[in-house]
Amino acid sequence: MVDIEGIKVLNLDFKERAIELSKKYNVSLLNSESAEIYISIDDQSILHFGKNKLENSFGEGKFSARITQYQGETLLKKAIGWQSTVQKHILDATGGLGHDSFILALLGQKITVLEKNIGLCILIEEALHNLPNLPYFNDAKNNISIINNDSRAFLSSAENFDVIYIDPMFNSKKKLKRTKQMEFLVSYLKEYDDPSAEFYESNFKRLVIKKELRAKSSIKDCSALSFKGSSVRYDIYSKGEK
Ligand SMILES: C[S@@+](CC[C@H](N)C(=O)[O-])C[C@H]1O[C@@H](n2cnc3c(N)ncnc32)[C@H](O)[C@@H]1O
Repeated sequence: MVDIEGIKVLNLDFKERAIELSKKYNVSLLNSESAEIYISIDDQSILHFGKNKLENSFGEGKFSARITQYQGETLLKKAIGWQSTVQKHILDATGGLGHDSFILALLGQKITVLEKNIGLCILIEEALHNLPNLPYFNDAKNNISIINNDSRAFLSSAENFDVIYIDPMFNSKKKLKRTKQMEFLVSYLKEYDDPSAEFYESNFKRLVIKKELRAKSSIKDCSALSFKGSSVRYDIYSKGEK
């Protein structure tokens, strides 16, 4: 699997932060050596992949619009069975840039984010770290923990989570409009992975799989529910959910 060769500090003010991340994720701090794939830590941290660059800010760009309107995420709320008085513990088995997880955390849910790519874990860490110091952002940050691992390591503990959330979303054969970030991820990650089928066999309570609206279901199960939006849908499977 492709991943970063290390972390570069471009601005010495961020050295401590870079050391903290290099320890947590067990990656090298790069000095002047040349690297093709690395993260530069700065006030805006960047994942470099050859000439391509990926930023992940929660405060700017397209995603910030989703943040300001997070209460209007009715499809996502339906998908996880959101209730204003209940905090669910959700396992996001395909963390990516942490966007869906962050919306779920703003909605008061407790999220364990699993992402097997270290570069992407660090981009999520940095997006959270750089959020403005506001009570609702701090609450959301405290609701999220990020783990760098293949989520299959959690198959045997699926029953400990109220919801398993999976967004594989890369295998479209149709020419759907992809965002720049999505284009980057497709070329950077190279290998497509989808742990849905394995989680379906696990002892989950509620399994939510995000799909492109007209994509085939990953799993044949006539008891599944689907919630449809204009471009995506959520397939919901339930085993022993209260
Ligand atoms: C489409 S992205 C998810 C986007 C995410 N929902 C968001 O809102 O940012 C899919 C991600 O899942 C990760 N992934 C795929 N299979 C995985 C697995 N078995 N364990 C952990 N991460 C996985 C990939 O590395 C990729 O970053």
